[in-house]
Amino acid sequence: MPAPQQPSPNRAHNQTWDAATLSKADKASVLHPYTNLRQHQTDGALTIVSGKGVWVTDSNGNRYLEAMAGLWCTTLGFGESRLAEAAKRQIEELSFYHLFGAKAHPPAIKLAEKLLSVAPSPMGRVFFTCSGSEAIDTAIKVVWYYNNALGRAKKKKIIARDRAYHGVTVAASSLTNLPINQRSFDVPIPGMLKTTCPHYYRNAKPGETEEQFATRLANDLDALIQAEGPDTVAAFFAEPVQGAGGVVVPPKTYFEKVQAVCRKHDVLVLADEVICGFGRTGNFWGSQTFGIKPDLLTMAKGLTSGYLPLGALMVSEAVFQALADESAKIGAFGTGFTYGGHPVPCAVALETLAIYEERDIVAMARANAPRFQAAFRALESHPLVGEARGVGMVGAIEIVADKASKTPFDPPGKGGGTVMRCCQDEGLIARQIGETIAMSPPLVITPSEMDEMFSRLGRALDKAAKLLGVKG
Ligand SMILES: Cc1ncc(COP(=O)(O)O)c(C=O)c1O
Repeated sequence: MPAPQQPSPNRAHNQTWDAATLSKADKASVLHPYTNLRQHQTDGALTIVSGKGVWVTDSNGNRYLEAMAGLWCTTLGFGESRLAEAAKRQIEELSFYHLFGAKAHPPAIKLAEKLLSVAPSPMGRVFFTCSGSEAIDTAIKVVWYYNNALGRAKKKKIIARDRAYHGVTVAASSLTNLPINQRSFDVPIPGMLKTTCPHYYRNAKPGETEEQFATRLANDLDALIQAEGPDTVAAFFAEPVQGAGGVVVPPKTYFEKVQAVCRKHDVLVLADEVICGFGRTGNFWGSQTFGIKPDLLTMAKGLTSGYLPLGALMVSEAVFQALADESAKIGAFGTGFTYGGHPVPCAVALETLAIYEERDIVAMARANAPRFQAAFRALESHPLVGEARGVGMVGAIEIVADKASKTPFDPPGKGGGTVMRCCQDEGLIARQIGETIAMSPPLVITPSEMDEMFSRLGRALDKAAKLLGVKG
């Protein structure tokens, strides 16, 4: 544990608090997402009180290198004053307006125009939401509406991959194929189909090359669509890199092959860029890194550098035209969120995009990526690490009890959980996903901060190996 600094009472917002009072209030009042709620009642939370650059500070004064950019989102690091100023200016200019019933405001118009100009394939319109889940949820509705517009009442099923993460609303979590998101929540809803996760390390057959693996998965997808009936399958949703499913980088030729299958069956392709968008994979979009030409594209997180909630769905011109026809028939495109396209997050997004351009954040990510990826790959020699994987500025290690057989620790999560706790003790915040430890730091991280990050991770792994009884 880093040496605690002087706990200082925080008087921001005219409130005084201390760590113990906060912890007690947290346990008594907050229902925490993605948390073992019973355990939280005893252990409490790690309460973060401030952040600057890649560093955050907890309520006891301990500093952590935030290797996850929060939740894969604070691309510009914490405390960027230009974004605070953009929010302040917009609140003073126009604190709220909406886009319902053909109303508009400049920040949403300018942002939509800007996003269309940088889209990875030609896009027609942008629909704003408050989150990635809402963008996915809206995409599902759009896909259904589109097929109704075309008179294809049966063409409604949507395919996602195993271990996909597309969010948590009822429909989005029906495409989030992770047990923790579906168990006991009575999802998936009907009509959601699942195909194989393109994780070469776990799912390739012995001796299979990456290309052969990709061909097999494309054939599986084809067989699934044929078995269901192509006239019943509407869309294929995919993250360029599966993030919350464990940082799964697709095998070579995968997207080329699965897109060909989708085109053959007139199945729309949605690229879920909520994590991969805005430079994460070394290009502006993950779609550019992997040659995806989506009909629909969802984004959030890095759109505002995570500073304010904002998501968006882009649709192709062909999809837009069908929506327009159907809305004219019915009377309106009857969906929208009160805060979707709120002027303040839109203004912050415009400023974020301006900073990306001025500082060439994508080039910075691309320049830092070889050092970042090499440091990950070097960890493969560690006795606990079965696989190190990643692309651009996102990476992960998979913890195993036995490298030769790829056997995880028992019970599930024991290896990953131990490493994650050791990271925290070393002043490093990484993300545990089962047996995987993921890192996706702010894109503004410097080479020396990266070195610091990996030396902390290395120490954490050594400590975890001792605790797990594994010899180096
Ligand atoms: C690929 C992907 N899609 C959708 C979502 C859901 O976004 P949100 O948490 O903003 O609802 C996430 C969140 O991590 C994500 O990673």
